[in-house]
Amino acid sequence: MSMNLLFKEKYSSMTGGVSDAYINKLTLLLDEIRELKKKHNAVVLSHYYMPPELQIDTANGGVADFVGDSLGLSVAGTKTDASYIIFCGVKFMAETAYILNPEKRVLLPDHNAGCSLAESISGNDVLQLRQKYPGVPVIAYINTYAETKAECDVCCTSRNAIKIANSFDSKKLIFLPDKFMGQNLAAKFKKETDKELILWNGSCEVHEQFRTNIEEMTLANPDAELLLHWEVPQETVAATLNNRKGIVGSTSDILNYVNESKATQFILGSECDLGATLKGMYPEKQFITPCIMCRHMKQITLQKTLEALRSIGSDKQMNFEVTVEEKIRQKAYVPIKRMLELS
Ligand code: 13P
Ligand code: SF4
Repeated sequence: MSMNLLFKEKYSSMTGGVSDAYINKLTLLLDEIRELKKKHNAVVLSHYYMPPELQIDTANGGVADFVGDSLGLSVAGTKTDASYIIFCGVKFMAETAYILNPEKRVLLPDHNAGCSLAESISGNDVLQLRQKYPGVPVIAYINTYAETKAECDVCCTSRNAIKIANSFDSKKLIFLPDKFMGQNLAAKFKKETDKELILWNGSCEVHEQFRTNIEEMTLANPDAELLLHWEVPQETVAATLNNRKGIVGSTSDILNYVNESKATQFILGSECDLGATLKGMYPEKQFITPCIMCRHMKQITLQKTLEALRSIGSDKQMNFEVTVEEKIRQKAYVPIKRMLELS
């Protein structure tokens, strides 16, 4: 089967079908992206929250060399021998890729792809927390910028947060910046360990919106199992997961849960395009979601990915490149490396 036919099949399974005219438009972009990737020895790393056309990997006729969650993408960046990483995700993720691979050029197709969590805290805020709680270890969620990470002891992602927290002997830990994820982790610790978390007041502007909408969907679909990201408010988790099968966890926990569950219907409390990922993977199962999109992730499009690749070697390349000042990069490298060693 030709690459573009494979792509059409996968795209249709993720989206429920689309017109030939639209697929033809996409395949023109895909063909040029493939050509430029080869020419410049570039790879495309793509997060599960990207639009479906950017989440389809090369084996399925797409252009993504790796599709994953934030931890998977950080590791994938260290394993490639490509000269260019085209990062289809948000800025803190591209920054992490650069911090780990300063010899490579990391291109983000749109620098407006921010994150409400990363923007909620600075390096100075961490220094003040350290003054207020001397000696308490600081765990930074990967959804932070380099200058914040530079002041922390270790990073974590949604996938390894529990493991990282348990690696410290200290009973008290500072976990930043997501208060909801912190509250969900604290609720889990209360049942399992004696850990106490000191939290920051940040939140994900997408996941904080899963509230009564999820409760209503739960009532309307009595057999559906629940898939909630750590970043969903604790109140929602407590109100819905108490008497319903399901999970609160990371993106990969959600994918693993669906893989193992016998249920055929799920309610998703996470970014809308993770629903497309799941639909593509499990066409026989049904995923219901209020469909809330991350406006930052959606800044990244196939067209802009192509423009980033077209810029290589021209004056425009610097508009796409993500770099970190060397002094900060070296400091931020330490907590990321520690996380990777502990993962
Ligand atoms: P993951 O670590 O699950 O990929 O989460 C990234 C993110 O931005 C969640 O909102
Ligand atoms: Fe940030 Fe939330 Fe968007 Fe993830 S979904 S990038 S945490 S704003």
